[in-house]
Amino acid sequence: MKPLLLKGGRIVDPATSLDSLRDLRVRDGRIAEIGEHLDAAADEEIVDARGTVIAPGFIDMHVHLREPGFEEKETIATGTLAAVNGGFTAVACMPNTNPALDDPTVLSALMQTVQREARCRVYPIAAITRGREGREPCDYAELTAAGAVAFSDDGDSVEDADVLRDAALRARPLDAPIVDHCLPEETLVARDVKLCAETGKRWHIAHVSTAAALESIAAARSRGVAVTCEVTPHHLTFTGALVKEAGAAAKVNPPLRTQSDVDALRRGVRDGTIDAFASDHAPHTEQEKSGDFERAAPGFSGLEVAVGAYAAALADLPLLRFVALLSTNPARILKIRGGTLAPKEAADITIFADRPWRVDPAAFASKGKCTPFAGRRLPRRILATIVGGAVRYRAPDWEA
Ligand code: DOR
Repeated sequence: MKPLLLKGGRIVDPATSLDSLRDLRVRDGRIAEIGEHLDAAADEEIVDARGTVIAPGFIDMHVHLREPGFEEKETIATGTLAAVNGGFTAVACMPNTNPALDDPTVLSALMQTVQREARCRVYPIAAITRGREGREPCDYAELTAAGAVAFSDDGDSVEDADVLRDAALRARPLDAPIVDHCLPEETLVARDVKLCAETGKRWHIAHVSTAAALESIAAARSRGVAVTCEVTPHHLTFTGALVKEAGAAAKVNPPLRTQSDVDALRRGVRDGTIDAFASDHAPHTEQEKSGDFERAAPGFSGLEVAVGAYAAALADLPLLRFVALLSTNPARILKIRGGTLAPKEAADITIFADRPWRVDPAAFASKGKCTPFAGRRLPRRILATIVGGAVRYRAPDWEA
């Protein structure tokens, strides 16, 4: 791994409130130094980063990597390749696999595959209930010891409030938050913020998609309830009208909503109610995403379009806030490393620029080639992704 000197980039680090043109040195897998006009050492590769933005590595806290059990849709290898191509140095993967991530032996086996095959860091989110069936609690302490950073029955909501309350109390001594997938959204988000207040457990609402759900989160936070939330690129962009045009390709859970919901979500990003961007990367086979709407699988690939799509939806969002939503805040919510470019930290770095490009799903590394952003022109693109000092993605046309 060659040491690097990134020269003249705009360094945006929300953790230290830095937004300035600086040089950045990477050595031994860590951020060595940030300064104005650093001199290159003999063994360093010099990268001309003028005209680019250098940010702490992006973290997608909500992806489906499909392993174990659904390798025809995605694998650790293909999903993490998609992640680094999309600018992500870390992802948190959901437990709706087969078997579900509800047991330490399943988690340990997954982490071995990650060790062998992953291109970026992978943090598993374990199930709340056994088999994600909404009845029996998992052993949260054991799951945390095996690497779980959060608990969720994603894909399904935990319908029984007593089961969820019991789970929150059991998991309360652990750092890992509850990440709830709320469908039907309004009633379950309202219930969840109550449970969060009652149990004192840290809570995160996955892919918030309606104005009303966002309002109940904002109201709870103003009362001091420890609830955070995330939003997907598609819910910030499209309305249900897309279904007429795109059919099964636009099917997703939670579904695409109305323009006033889209507007409320964009306001929520700007006013700070929404804490994190998360793609809900949900790859499926071509067959599952074509034909009859009712029978099609919900969800589509997100990792390789997310950064550009967020920039398109929120063109005027200050860069410090943009990076906080993609890096610093997900790291803080999951209590994982990253989210900063402070010296001595692991060199997880995302380099991007405002250069328009057109989405071509055939070029995705992900096995899932379906996205409602297909053919769209997006304003921001990834130039390089560095994980622990190793360059894991470099745009082929970026002459540095
Ligand atoms: O559209 C979705 N697809 N929403 C989910 O919550 C689950 C996901 C999947 O696993 O395919």
